[in-house]
Amino acid sequence: MRHILVPEDLSAHEIEAIFAISKDLETKYTAGTRDALLPGRMLALVFEKPSLRTRVSFEAAMAHLGGSSVFLGEDAGFASSRESIADFGRVLSEYADAIVCRSKAHDTIERLAAAASVPVINGLSDYCHPCQALADIYTLKQHVGRVAGLTLAFVGDGNNVARSLAVVCGLLGMRFVLAAPKAYQFDDAFRKHLKSLLPNAEIVETTDAVAAVKGAAAVYTDVWASMGQEKERAKRLEDLKAYQVNEALMKHCPDAIFMHCLPARRGEEVTDGVIDGPQSVVVEEAANRMHVQKGLLAWLLAK
Ligand code: CP
Ligand code: NVA
Repeated sequence: MRHILVPEDLSAHEIEAIFAISKDLETKYTAGTRDALLPGRMLALVFEKPSLRTRVSFEAAMAHLGGSSVFLGEDAGFASSRESIADFGRVLSEYADAIVCRSKAHDTIERLAAAASVPVINGLSDYCHPCQALADIYTLKQHVGRVAGLTLAFVGDGNNVARSLAVVCGLLGMRFVLAAPKAYQFDDAFRKHLKSLLPNAEIVETTDAVAAVKGAAAVYTDVWASMGQEKERAKRLEDLKAYQVNEALMKHCPDAIFMHCLPARRGEEVTDGVIDGPQSVVVEEAANRMHVQKGLLAWLLAK
């Protein structure tokens, strides 16, 4: 049994295997075929935060694969005084074949996984968002035909999505550049972790957004205040305003694709002109969440 709590729970070889299954399922889906690889299987989704893409892409993936899903929001009492996380995980494992969890604190998903007897998949925590990064790099691969040697420039807050992309890029032989004010770059503990996990990876941090995007195959941004950081919003908007991905910045990388995990705060981290412009692949990225999670579920469960 495997849990996918952080991107590095998968090796480069395993990511490539998941991408191959995803591609096959995507091709069939586009041709109007559903491959029922998971008949009778049930996926439970336990979410402490709002979601459109992660929830619906996982539920659609299970439906297309011939399985089913159940969504558990706040009323299920997860991570509350109603019952312990361990009891919750032990009991839910009796009903479900796998669990996707979106939690406020990363440690909550770790505690759920420690108690669960079925695979637990991280559907976003404050620390990372592995499924997002997998779909993003799959999207880039579809555009360029390969990923090794390419640069992904992440402009903005060095957050959960940025951390996940840094790891997946490092695993797959890509260069990752984070352009952010010093206070919004990675913390020392994560830098140390990257160094020991990926000693040969090229992971660069800079305050210079223009230098970061030059030569990049993909320019990525995300909201400046993530879910749970609402109280810091005004300060973050002020601190990060020089890091907006706008038409002037994208002029330095005319061949790059523009990526965003969504939801976006238009007019803050990205302008309408860029997110709706010819370089943007944001809708395709969101669509690929479903294809790649089908690959992940089939890889995890259809053995
Ligand atoms: N990108 C993403 O995870 O979107 P949701 O928060 O809508 O799931
Ligand atoms: N960084 C964002 C990503 C949302 C998909 C958040 O955590 O709110």
